[in-house]
Amino acid sequence: MTVYANSDVPVNWERFLAQRTQNMRSSAIRELLKVTQDPSVISFAGGLPAPELFPVREIEEACNFLLREEPDRALQYSATEGYPPLREYLAESMAKYGIPHSAENILITTGSQQALDLMGKVFVDPGTPILTGRPTYLGAIQAWRAYQARFLTVPLDENGMQVEQVEAVIKQETPRFVYVLPNFHNPAGTTLSEERRRLLVELARKYDLIILEDDPYGALRYEGQDLSPIAAMAPERTIYLGTFSKILAPGLRIGWIVAPAEIITRLVQAKQGADLHTSTFDQMVANDVAQRGILKMHIKRLRRSYKERRDVMLDALVELWPEGSHWTRPHGGLFLWAQVPAGVDTQALFHTALKHKVAYVPGVNFYPDGDGGHQAMRLNFSNAKPDMIVEGVRRLGDALKNELAQ
Ligand SMILES: Cc1ncc(COP(=O)(O)O)c(C=O)c1O
Repeated sequence: MTVYANSDVPVNWERFLAQRTQNMRSSAIRELLKVTQDPSVISFAGGLPAPELFPVREIEEACNFLLREEPDRALQYSATEGYPPLREYLAESMAKYGIPHSAENILITTGSQQALDLMGKVFVDPGTPILTGRPTYLGAIQAWRAYQARFLTVPLDENGMQVEQVEAVIKQETPRFVYVLPNFHNPAGTTLSEERRRLLVELARKYDLIILEDDPYGALRYEGQDLSPIAAMAPERTIYLGTFSKILAPGLRIGWIVAPAEIITRLVQAKQGADLHTSTFDQMVANDVAQRGILKMHIKRLRRSYKERRDVMLDALVELWPEGSHWTRPHGGLFLWAQVPAGVDTQALFHTALKHKVAYVPGVNFYPDGDGGHQAMRLNFSNAKPDMIVEGVRRLGDALKNELAQ
């Protein structure tokens, strides 16, 4: 038997950690989601799809088919770039949106979140500036903080990121890339207008900038016309991110990057060190569901259902929230962004809301420097069923009214 001398002396783990871990924090969303595990809490906090709409039977059929017909392939290691038929499929569907790339320009990732991390790994040195909107996607802030990025920001309005302000910022300092969420922004719910897309491309060409276009929600439009992706307008300088998380199932963890071939090569090198490749089996399942036309039908169903939930939430807000509140009216996606009356801090209100058995994400979490969003909150409308949405909005309205009365 081995006897370890002084094995009861505690190890000071902090002493051994890399310097970059000082910038790492656990995501506020994950921490918040922990408290919403309680089934009596109605959660508008996560970005979760409706679980009862998952195409379970179709996915089961795909699994059975693959295990019967192609087990040697489905359960084996595979190429870092991704499963070739899935890359082909995605190249074709991207071409329909006007993105002129082929399968070689596509890298399958373990969710878009991995793509954001790979962007950090490949482009960000300590202190590297990245330009983004204010507010912006929390998961991107988290991913790039770990690489010690700095954030340059411009504010958003109802037409998305105020691209008119970009030029003033880049004259001061050149960002390594510009991060945009043009469709149904997380968290703001806004859509970047056609004019602003054009202006961004113009500026990018004038100042030789590269653009990261993150588009998990583009297929989930409930009204209005599709706008051109930035990757279609400037394919030479845009890296586009897509994902199956919101249109099929986030548990599969399948996303993709579309980019010029030379940068795909770099991202592939970065991915090799991270996970060799995204799950072969999951890629083949996603491919099967997509190729059989099930995905397309499923997206139609999601659009109908989420549109209804969005409308239910908008109506309930009008009816049940106190005067002085207002909110965005998203044309798609999963979120709206609500402003509460003056005097209420949404971070402080969160605890009151939990007592009322309802949860949301306080706005401050979406500001890279924590310098805004104190009167704002992100509300998700895809996860709860319509009657629960009304009840949750009522509970939040009551929490707000209580807070205002004090
Ligand atoms: C804007 C944005 N980017 C990326 C992601 C990550 O998605 P996933 O890793 O599930 O593909 C999300 C998830 O909510 C998101 O909203």
